[in-house]
Amino acid sequence: VNSVFSVAKKVMKIAKTIDEIRMLVADAGMADKKIGFVPTMGALHAGHLSLIKKAKQQCEFVVVSIFVNPTQFGPNEDLNKYPRPFDDDIKLCRKNGVDAVFAPSAEEMYPDKNLTWVNVEKLSEPLCGKSRPTHFRGVATVCAKLFNIIQPDVAYFGQKDAQQAAVIKRMVADLNMPMRIVVCPIVREPDGLAMSSRNKYLDAEQRKDAPLLYASLQEAQLLIGGGQRKSAFIKEQMKKILNISKLMEIDYISIVNADTLEEIEEVSGRVLIALAVKMPSARLIDNIMLDVE
Ligand code: PAF
Repeated sequence: VNSVFSVAKKVMKIAKTIDEIRMLVADAGMADKKIGFVPTMGALHAGHLSLIKKAKQQCEFVVVSIFVNPTQFGPNEDLNKYPRPFDDDIKLCRKNGVDAVFAPSAEEMYPDKNLTWVNVEKLSEPLCGKSRPTHFRGVATVCAKLFNIIQPDVAYFGQKDAQQAAVIKRMVADLNMPMRIVVCPIVREPDGLAMSSRNKYLDAEQRKDAPLLYASLQEAQLLIGGGQRKSAFIKEQMKKILNISKLMEIDYISIVNADTLEEIEEVSGRVLIALAVKMPSARLIDNIMLDVE
């Protein structure tokens, strides 16, 4: 029944082209709405939903992008097998009150082979940058493109990818992009495993060992809480915990200054303790950030 009092049900829009999403965002901007943006590669989980929730609390129009960005995958990485449950992702976005989804094709985003790259020096090199040398260049470049397309007031990233968050914050500052970056806490499974789209790759045995990452970080936190300040000692204890698993190969364990991402020998100030391990079917990362007296 039509009534002057009935409220039109909000319909989530799905844009596949740059022109379409620009029009949707322009309409929202014209209505003076604050634009929140959550960039994703899909395969949405509770971590992504926490970003959407935050965006909805702080903004009146929330855009989620779903784009598996080829330029951030190395030649032997999982670009082709990366999960793409598009219909489920759309349902989740709708259920969580997203206003518009931007889901472009690779041709839409990269019609020609890219000649322009955004390289955030120094911050892209340590930690994951060592084994994924072109990864952060791909992430920074696609985020710069997405920010230029959507022109959000605020973009939301997860602390799970701590190095990515540091790279993006620095890019936005260095290039005077007129927007804010909000970094939201890691969302974990009940056993401590950080939520990640790549957890889907783990078989039962690997999944059973995966919480060791967080267990090793908790051990580090405990040691620091008890007064330990020697990074080498803390890393050694973390290694012992990870080595309980026969399935994990440690890529790195690092204790770094949270802003510069430079290794520190004595733990003090704002520190990031980060690690990556290779399991037979997935590479997993995790971290904690601590303020140490
Ligand atoms: O964190 C991710 O899912 C991706 O790296 C991002 C930020 C969407 C860029 O492709």
